[in-house]
Amino acid sequence: MASTLLVTGASGHLGQRVIHHLLETLNVAPQRIIATTRKPETLKDLAAKGITVRSADFDDAASLRSAFAGADRLLLISTDALDRPGRRLEQHQAAVAAAEQAGVAHVVYTSMPLPENSPLLIAPDHAGTEKALASSALEGWTVLRNHWYFENLFMSLPQALASGQWYSAAGQGKVAYIARDDLARAAAIALASEAGGKTSYTLSGAEAFTTEQIAQQVSQATGKPLQVVHVPLAGLIQGMVGAGFPEPLAAVFASFDTNTAAGRVAEVTEDYQKLTGVAQQPFVHWLTANASTLTAQ
Ligand SMILES: NC(=O)c1ccc[n+]([C@@H]2O[C@H](COP(=O)([O-])OP(=O)(O)OC[C@H]3O[C@@H](n4cnc5c(N)ncnc54)[C@H](OP(=O)(O)O)[C@@H]3O)[C@@H](O)[C@H]2O)c1
Repeated sequence: MASTLLVTGASGHLGQRVIHHLLETLNVAPQRIIATTRKPETLKDLAAKGITVRSADFDDAASLRSAFAGADRLLLISTDALDRPGRRLEQHQAAVAAAEQAGVAHVVYTSMPLPENSPLLIAPDHAGTEKALASSALEGWTVLRNHWYFENLFMSLPQALASGQWYSAAGQGKVAYIARDDLARAAAIALASEAGGKTSYTLSGAEAFTTEQIAQQVSQATGKPLQVVHVPLAGLIQGMVGAGFPEPLAAVFASFDTNTAAGRVAEVTEDYQKLTGVAQQPFVHWLTANASTLTAQ
């Protein structure tokens, strides 16, 4: 009998696209899919298609065993809880334990590149979750070490384009950005495959760029000047605090630049093509499609 596939966080940006790829790209029957979310009322359209929608909140560990019941393979989408160090790891550990207890055979997890010993302040959540999978009694797991989304640039570029200046502490470090939708396709394929075992993939874009190289391409796509202003880490944090970010959150965001400067998100791998059999969307296509959104501010 075909396996039952469960997607957590199904109402999030990535989760929605994973469900899309399961249904449309891979032609998985909706009756084989369970979508869990903290907000089941937002997934009425999926329920109408025949997908089983259940409530699951990783902060409510007791509820998870029944939420995961009947699933053979489960995609654990990392949460966005960054407010308290360690909270996200507790959430993921609860989800891994519940998957084990519910008899799930295989878990797919959305991690990050090189999570061990990283200067990125959110990395211990991912390293700890990978450890939880490795030491679990699950039959198998797939770790998807997802590189940064093109879409993350929506957080910094509109403001930078409005002022013409992009403050960076990333130095000459490169980032191998990839489209979020490509990562959703990869997650859907890893989930729907019958592959067992314990595997990690590092899913990068097709190319890695320095901040200057990105700025140059953004300028070209938008027709607006954009100068990279290199600042020390403390200056970057100070700037974000000045713009209204709480200091701990500013330190988390700034640590992405430290991580980039250390060359930890620069590696271009062949894992995406190996897993999916298709090529990643080129950065320039994404930029062209989103130029007007980036300049809307
Ligand atoms: N690689 C990258 O560049 C990058 C960038 C941003 C984020 N991420 C990571 O990738 C994840 C998915 O990205 P996204 O773009 O889909 O982010 P998003 O739209 O902000 O979605 C956040 C996700 O976290 C889930 N979540 C939050 N609290 C939860 C809880 N207590 N229990 C269970 N699930 C919970 C949400 O599920 P429901 O709302 O459906 O319950 C949702 O799937 C993020 O949460 C984050 O860990 C990666």
